[in-house]
Amino acid sequence: MTTESGARISTLVLTDLEDTARLLKTILSGEPDLVVQRGLAALGGALDAATHHQPDVIVLADTTEALATLVIALDAAVPRAALVVVLAEGDLRGIQECSLAGAAITLFKPFEQAQLIAAVRQAHARALRHPPAAVAAPSARLQRPRIVAVHGVKGGVGASTLAVNLGAALHGLTRRRVAVIDADLLSGDAGVLLDLPPQQSILDILPALRELDAETVDNYFQQHATGVHALLAPEQIQRADAVLPEDVARTLTALRPYFDYQIVDTPSRVTPVTLAVMDQADLVLVVLTPELVALRNAARLLRLTAQLGYPAEKLMLVVNRADTSRMITTAVVEEQLRRAVSAAIPSDGRALVEAMNAGELLVEIYSKSPVAAAIGSLAGEVARHFGWDSGVGAPTPTVPDELEAPLAAPSPRYAARLFGRMFGRRAAGQAS
Ligand SMILES: Nc1ncnc2c1ncn2[C@@H]1O[C@H](COP(=O)(O)OP(=O)(O)O)[C@@H](O)[C@H]1O
Ligand SMILES: [Mg+2]
Repeated sequence: MTTESGARISTLVLTDLEDTARLLKTILSGEPDLVVQRGLAALGGALDAATHHQPDVIVLADTTEALATLVIALDAAVPRAALVVVLAEGDLRGIQECSLAGAAITLFKPFEQAQLIAAVRQAHARALRHPPAAVAAPSARLQRPRIVAVHGVKGGVGASTLAVNLGAALHGLTRRRVAVIDADLLSGDAGVLLDLPPQQSILDILPALRELDAETVDNYFQQHATGVHALLAPEQIQRADAVLPEDVARTLTALRPYFDYQIVDTPSRVTPVTLAVMDQADLVLVVLTPELVALRNAARLLRLTAQLGYPAEKLMLVVNRADTSRMITTAVVEEQLRRAVSAAIPSDGRALVEAMNAGELLVEIYSKSPVAAAIGSLAGEVARHFGWDSGVGAPTPTVPDELEAPLAAPSPRYAARLFGRMFGRRAAGQAS
C-alpha cells in the first residue's frame, strides 16, 4: 500500500528503550509504504533527530522525558510532522496532555501491530488534510500587542521580582496597557509581590475566553496602584494542577487584543507550561544570577530554544544581582553564553525587603535606587525592542518621590494580608 500521492511516509521512531526501538522499527519497516528511522527521545536527541530527518510522522514511546513536554517541543521544532504517542495502559491523563500538546494520535499499550501501522497512516493522512498554519512574518509578529515571558533559569534568581517591577516600569514609561500574568501556577507569588489579594486566577478566566470583551477582561484582572493589571496564579495548588499548557497558551492569545504588553512570569523549571508561554511570547527574558548552576541552566535553556527554532532576537539575557560575584562578572556570563547581556541589575536586598514590607513595588517606593534605574532601563530596552520611540522628554518611570524614605516595619494591614495569604488567608485576613 502507498499513500495517495504514491510517496512513502517517512516515519521516525523516538524512544529511550532499545527493545522498544527494535520492536517498533520491525513492525513498521514491514510496511512497503513506510520508511522508518529511529532516534533517542531524550529532549536534545529527539529534537536533533526530528530536525535532521524532517519526518512525516513521529512515533514516541517509552521516553525518560515527559511525553507532553516532548510533544510540545517536537511540534514547535517540526510543525509539519504528525505525532503518534504510545502511552502506558490506562494513562488517561497522558492522553489528555498529549492531545492538547498537539499529538495527532495516542495509543495505549498493549496494542496490535495493525493498530500502530494504522495510527501512522491515519496521522499522516490527517496532517495532509490540515497542514500547519504558516508562521507569521516577522514584521507582523512585531506589531502590537506583545507578550513578554520572564523566565528564571532556576528558582530564586528574582524572575518574579523583575516581572512585576518591569510591568510597572513599562507602564510608567510607555503609558500603555500592561498586564502582569502569573503563569507560575504552582508556586506563583506575583500576588504577594504586588500586595494583591488572591481573587480570580487564570483558571477562572478559562471558561470566559470565547466571549471576552474589555469589561469582562477588567473583571478578571486586578488593577494595581501603579496602573498595571494583574492576573494571579490560582490560590489552591489542587486547582493549579488542572490548568494545562494549552489553557495557558489559549489565555495569552485571547488576551492579546486587550493589552499592549503582557508580562508573563513562568515557572523556573522548563515545564510544558513554561514552553507554552515561551512559544506564545514575542520576547523571552532569560533571568539568571551570577552562579554556576544558573549559568549552566541558562546555557541549557539557550540550547533548547535554539533547537526549538527561536530566533536569537527573541531572547534577552538579564543578569540579576549582577554585582554579587567577583568570579562570574557580566563579561564572564557573556563569554560563557556567547550572547550579550541586555540588562545587569544590581543587588539590593534591603530595598526589596523594605518595599515588600511596605506592600509596594521597588520601582514605586525606591524609584531612584540603582535597582529601579536598571529595571527602568530594561523596560526601555523591551519597549524599544518592539519599536517604541521615547520621543522628546519621555516620562520617567512612575512614582511619587515622597515615598523615598526607608520604611522600617511592615504596615499592619500588609503583614496581616501577607501572612493570611501564606498561612490560611481567611483567619488572618479577617483579623485585620
Ligand atoms: N536585585 C536583587 N537584589 C537583592 N535581592 C533580590 C534581587 N532580586 C530578587 N531578590 C530577592 O530574591 C528572592 C527571590 O526572588 P523571586 O523574584 O521570588 O525569584 P524567582 O521568581 O526567580 O524564584 C526574593 O527574596 C527577592 O527579594
Ligand atoms: Mg517566581
